[in-house]
Amino acid sequence: MRIGVPKEIKNNEFRVGLTPNSVVELIHHGHELCVETGAGVGSGLSDAEYVAAGAKIVATADEIFSEAEMIVKVKEPLAVERRKLRRGQVLFTYLHLAPDLDQTQDLIASGATCIAYETVTSAQGGLPLLTPMSEVAGRLAPQVGAHALEKAAGGRGVLLGGVPGVPAAEVVILGGGVSGANAATIAIGMGANVTVVDRSSEVLKRLDAQFGAAMHTVYSTRATIADLVKRADLLIGAVLVPGAAAPKLITRDLLKTMKQGAVIVDIAIDQGGCCETSRATTHADPTYVVDGVVHYCVANMPGAVARTSTFALNNATLPFTIALANKGWRQALRDDPHLRNGLNVHEGKVTCAPVAEAHKLAYVSAESVLAN
Ligand SMILES: NC(=O)c1ccc[n+]([C@@H]2O[C@H](COP(=O)([O-])OP(=O)(O)OC[C@H]3O[C@@H](n4cnc5c(N)ncnc54)[C@H](O)[C@@H]3O)[C@@H](O)[C@H]2O)c1
Repeated sequence: MRIGVPKEIKNNEFRVGLTPNSVVELIHHGHELCVETGAGVGSGLSDAEYVAAGAKIVATADEIFSEAEMIVKVKEPLAVERRKLRRGQVLFTYLHLAPDLDQTQDLIASGATCIAYETVTSAQGGLPLLTPMSEVAGRLAPQVGAHALEKAAGGRGVLLGGVPGVPAAEVVILGGGVSGANAATIAIGMGANVTVVDRSSEVLKRLDAQFGAAMHTVYSTRATIADLVKRADLLIGAVLVPGAAAPKLITRDLLKTMKQGAVIVDIAIDQGGCCETSRATTHADPTYVVDGVVHYCVANMPGAVARTSTFALNNATLPFTIALANKGWRQALRDDPHLRNGLNVHEGKVTCAPVAEAHKLAYVSAESVLAN
């Protein structure tokens, strides 16, 4: 199969769909790779590395879109890219169509077969192509939180790990799933006093087994959160109710009880955030202060560490990319119900129920598409 990797053109997006290592794997399986010049530069990957891996470097996105049978990207295609898609072409990338009617309509009009990373599932019930980005955001949270706690950044001037004779910072993590557990790993490593709050007893048991006495686990109730929020130097919001807006666990009234110069890193901001006072920020201007509390609410945290994120994403997507290339999308989706869940749009039909519901469009199941 001819596989194309365009350079990402979304503002401040530095990741790339395939690394040179992924290119080597795909070429080993007998496929042809073309990569737009400079596609990997934001992740520290040069054209020369792609050439050494066996890819052909082309000068423009137009060439990629016209030559490739499958396009592998990171972010959803922008309008200018959507116009280049065509019937019979496979697009494999993050799409996030439910809140984006324009993109949904353009993908329908393109006739292309569009498979979204974020709706591919796993046998364990997770979303394996979202997990790596939650791992990155979780591990980044204590790092950015520690920086925001510094005086010059507006924080209360507390060192996360303390020093001998001075207590470590209190880190409270709301939600002990993928990002919360990864935040805990780093915060513990930095020497903080860490408490994780979750409403799932199973999650709390798993964390207890993993971290033992190095961390406290607390069952989530209004009263326990109110108590912990008062004590927190750094509060990390890592909750998720799948498919719904994040629950507003930190109300404005609760915020007023926090220490002056305390920091909130609201990872859940991409789902609206778990604090009433959270609003999305960017890497260029990541924090703001409300009631003396520093808020860090960057909606695309993994972008700060594009190189790590690119490799983490590739580790997760590569087996699916290989399956799509080796078998063709039809057979790959027939063989794997989890990859099948990734099919969002095919030849003008919406094949993902929540997307169809969000836009009041007709829904056709992936199974019925595959039966033809
Ligand atoms: N800002 C970013 O750049 C970025 C990057 C990656 C992921 N995210 C977001 O981070 C959020 C968390 O993702 P995840 O992969 O860790 O989710 P996850 O499903 O692995 O974990 C979420 C946890 O929240 C818990 N939870 C739900 N409601 C709760 C409540 N009321 N009290 C306490 N715990 C509660 C759940 O039991 C679960 O354990 C999501 O919104 C995700 O989209 C943001």
